[in-house]
Parts: sequence; C-alpha cells; structure tokens
Amino acid sequence: MTPKKVMLSAVQPSNRLTLGNYLGALKNWVQLQSQFDCLFFAVDLHAITVRQDPKELREQTYRAIATYIAAGIDPDSVTLFAQSHVPQHAELAWVLNCFVYMGELSRMTQFKDKSAKQGQNIPVGLFTYPALMAADILLYKTHLVPVGEDQKQHLEITRDIAQRMNQIYGNDLFTVPEIYLPPVGARIMSLQNPLSKMSKSDPDPQSAVYLTDTDDQIRKKLKRAVTDSGSEIAYTAEKPGIKNLIDIQAAITGQSPEQITQTYAGKQYGHLKVDTAELVATAVGPIRDRTEQLLRDRSYLDDLLKQGAKKARTRAEKTLGDVFDRLGLIRRG
Ligand code: TYM
Repeated sequence: MTPKKVMLSAVQPSNRLTLGNYLGALKNWVQLQSQFDCLFFAVDLHAITVRQDPKELREQTYRAIATYIAAGIDPDSVTLFAQSHVPQHAELAWVLNCFVYMGELSRMTQFKDKSAKQGQNIPVGLFTYPALMAADILLYKTHLVPVGEDQKQHLEITRDIAQRMNQIYGNDLFTVPEIYLPPVGARIMSLQNPLSKMSKSDPDPQSAVYLTDTDDQIRKKLKRAVTDSGSEIAYTAEKPGIKNLIDIQAAITGQSPEQITQTYAGKQYGHLKVDTAELVATAVGPIRDRTEQLLRDRSYLDDLLKQGAKKARTRAEKTLGDVFDRLGLIRRG
C-alpha cells in the first residue's frame, strides 16, 4: 500500500476562532482528513508576533486544539500539537530566513496590514512570519495545505523558497506543497463591513461570529449584519453583504450559491438573514458545546499535546537533519 500523502494546517491562537476560520479552514480539514496523513497544530509562536496576554494565549492555545476536535478532527488518527513544542519549527525558520529575500517579505499583504497597525515599532517577527510558516509546512514534506484565501500569498512564498533551495541542494530536499482552497467559503467577510475579511483580531465583536457565541448572540449578529441597498436577493459583487450571507449558507450546506439564490426569488433580506442565522447556529452550536466539554479535561489535552509533539519532533528532526547536512553543518548526535 502506498503511504498517504501529507496534509497540514494550523490556526493562530491569537483569539477565539471565527466562522471564517471554520468555513475557510477547519471544515475542510475535517472533510479531507481520512484521505491524508494529517498534522494540525496551534501556531503559538506566530501568535506572539503581536503582543499577547500570556494567560490568554495559553488559554486560546488549548481552546484552538479543543475546537479542532469539536469540529470533527479525529484526535486518534491525526497528529495534534502546539508549534512551540516542536523546536525544529523555529530552527528551520532560521535557515529559511537565510534564503528568503527582503523584497519578497515586503510584498506580503498580511505584513503590510498588520505592520500598519503597529505604529513605529514593528516587530521583526511580523516581517519574517512567512519564513516560520514555510518551516511549518516544509518540515513534514507536506503535499496539501487547506487554508482560506488570505493565506494564498504565504503558500506561494513557501513554494518559492522550497523550489529555490531544491535547486541548490537537490530536488528531493523539500516537497513543494499545493494549496487547497474550498470552492466556497475561502473568504468569509466581516458582518459589519462586507468589503473586509471576517477576522478574529477585528476590534468590533459584531463583525464576526465566534465559535464561542451563544445561539442568541449568533442570531443578533446576523440580524444586524450590514446589507446592501435595494431589496432583491442577488449573488453579485455589487451586493457584497448579501453575497456574503449566501456564501455562508453555501459553505455550510454544500449547495451552490446559485441554488441558494434561486430559493429566495421574491423574498426579502430579512428572510435571508433569519435563515442564515439558523444555519450558523446549528453548525456552531455543537462545536461550541463540545469545545467547552473538552476544555474541562486539561489532562486529556495535555496528554494529547505531549504525544502529538513527540510524533511531530521525530518527523521534523529527520527533515531538519537532512537540511543541516546538505548545508554543511556537522550532524548533531
Ligand atoms: P489564521 O489563524 O489567520 O487563520 C486560520 C485559517 O482560517 C482561514 N481564515 C479564513 N477563511 C475564510 N474566511 C475568513 N474570513 C478567514 N479568516 C481566516 C485562514 O486562511 C487559515 O486557513 N498564517 C496562518 C497560520 C499558519 C498556517 C501555517 C496555516 C501558520 N503556519 C502552516 C497553514 C500551514 C494564519 O495566520 O491563519
């Protein structure tokens, strides 16, 4: 039997996860997991590129892992861990920092957006963030990375670094990863400004549905969702608020946006909002409740993280050893 290909992905535990994280990423990990050899982790080292409250960060890291399981990730068949528990990520990131160019990193839109919010003192970690992300992916010879659209540029730079190093050190050094973007849901928009992405770091809590929200909060947020002028329900770029609600429904139900739009012929925005709220509440409710349940058993989560990190370290050390070797560093014992 040929071994399964490797699929890997991660979320930054910088805040509670959102519906965007679920529909753009987690839901697809769950759907694809049985076909792949999977690694999923919480990127706590990425999270500290902007200032975090230490207690909160630890809490959100546990919460992220619990949410993966609550969303349907099978903890017995995938490798789950915290990025900081596998030191090879930071080590390979250093190496990759020596092969990625300032010009390339300066073009990253995430860096431009996030650094604009930092004022004068922009942490260097924010700039070299993509090198750590490339290390996350390349350490495990990953074939497929399921993410939302905002991570596309980071995947491209990862591929560029891999190809660049393969050319110098041999084509079998790194696997050049492919991106998996879902057909719908790759970019869920803010409920308050449908021209910008739904984000866990948005200061306005009304802009996002969090996977911790109660059914009531979900209903209120969707009721208040900013929609567009006019009254006809159409799936078009001119109606970004309506389009977003249809996309949310499509990503949850698996129906196409066109099919959903047809069912609203002659109906009003209010109908669309109410139905979307019910669908979101039905999708999020069980994840929220199961996450809370899992969070009550810290020793289970600690055990899982410990075992996951052990498995990940063995695999990561193999790739890192090979990289060090080819670069001319003396092998460590
Ligand atoms: P993060 O934590 O910002 O987001 C986690 C995942 O959720 C997706 N996502 C969205 N998808 C659709 N609509 C949205 N509004 C939305 N917001 C977020 C993201 O695309 C992502 O898939 N750099 C990454 C974390 C990371 C990573 C990795 C991912 C670090 N190393 C290695 C994959 C592989 C990030 O900040 O994701």
